[in-house]
Amino acid sequence: MRRSLQIGLLVCGVLVSAAAGYWLWWALEGKPEQGRPSVGGPFELIDGDGRTVTERDFRGRHMLVYFGFTFCPDVCPTTLFNASRALDEIGPALASKVRLVFISIDPERDTPEVVREYAGHFHPGTVGLTGTPEQVGAAARAWRIYFRKADPEEDGSYLVDHSSILFLMDGDGRYVTHFGHEASAADMAAALKRLL
Ligand code: NI
Repeated sequence: MRRSLQIGLLVCGVLVSAAAGYWLWWALEGKPEQGRPSVGGPFELIDGDGRTVTERDFRGRHMLVYFGFTFCPDVCPTTLFNASRALDEIGPALASKVRLVFISIDPERDTPEVVREYAGHFHPGTVGLTGTPEQVGAAARAWRIYFRKADPEEDGSYLVDHSSILFLMDGDGRYVTHFGHEASAADMAAALKRLL
């Protein structure tokens, strides 16, 4: 178990750098619309109460969007925890204009109930989303998120390799900026204060 955890963290770290590199390449070399990278886009997912939600349900609110999985031992909870601290730091009036959105790329284990409970560990404005494998796959493609289920352990547990990027979107659902796993709560709070 400990060994698999170490390997998981190693894989996560390597992927985080590779994914960030790819993303930067894509952002610079891709075809941005009106000067903005075309990250994001339509999605149809399922919230913690089993309701279908789309990107339109978040219009008028800024979003911090993160793809991950609730069994992730390190990178996912750290990023979501830092984002939660940033929302605490900017105060309730500004934070009420922001939704921290966690999108699972492990729908097999992350049922609506599981993502709802997980979101409850972070800032009160956090929304947990999951979906069918097709819905999750389509959302990940729109947001340029790489993920791949790793080979399971003997006990059936498994990790999911995934890129770790927190996207900041404006109230019209347009990309503003993104944060890598090394970003601090203070970095995120500063970006939010500039935007709001
Ligand atoms: Ni993770």
